[in-house]
Amino acid sequence: MRTYIIAGNWKMHAGPEAAKTLTGELLADDRLYSALGTRHSVVVCPPFVSLAAVRAQLADAGVGLGAQNCHAEHHGAYTGEVSAPMLVEAGCSWVILGHSERRRDFAETNESIGHKAVAALQAGLRPIVCVGESHQERLDGVTTTVITRQLQGIADVVGADRLGGLVIAYEPIWAIGTGLAATPEQAQDVHATIREALAWYTPRTIPLLYGGSVTDVNASQLFACADIDGALVGGASLKAASFAGIVHAAVEAGQG
Ligand code: PGA
Repeated sequence: MRTYIIAGNWKMHAGPEAAKTLTGELLADDRLYSALGTRHSVVVCPPFVSLAAVRAQLADAGVGLGAQNCHAEHHGAYTGEVSAPMLVEAGCSWVILGHSERRRDFAETNESIGHKAVAALQAGLRPIVCVGESHQERLDGVTTTVITRQLQGIADVVGADRLGGLVIAYEPIWAIGTGLAATPEQAQDVHATIREALAWYTPRTIPLLYGGSVTDVNASQLFACADIDGALVGGASLKAASFAGIVHAAVEAGQG
């Protein structure tokens, strides 16, 4: 049986009240339960301020809780920041790192993302580290170069011995929030490249998620690809029915 990781990235949506409602709707959807209590992982990543509300609502349902960022230091004079151990204390087991929106808006680099990943691993979080090329880079035919450079920059900081603790999400920037998902062939192609590049560093099989306009309509085709082990879902994770549909698609794909 293949196992999948389905993670919802709520981005800057859903304060505590809305997060409670969305979590309640998700838990009321029967399709979620085929994945819970199995080896599949279902994770929701609300904004920091909504973590407590979502944690309380999830109780012991078996859905993982994640954050969307953390600082590379465990504590200190870093106004406005949140550390990995604080996230663990808040009930998180996962953290998304290096999302292209953070690379773009907060000048995150492969090196800084690597340091955050180390902090997350030290605290006991499972980092979902994002890589992906821009539309122009794809047009220029440098996708492989860009992705391998990103992986190398991160791996150099994380180190081969710790790299096996990561989850990598391939998120082509042109597919994020555009409704234009990569085709299964395009995604599989890059995932195979990532798989090969990572094998150079570690013998551990690192789960590779695809992200970028994943919906309950296109998920099955993506999950059928040999090297796609799940999805990082943005927009569709804000609708309980769509997210539950994606989870269901993973369960079906897992049954082969
Ligand atoms: P999207 O976002 O599913 O809305 O394209 C994915 C992401 O940014 O993680």
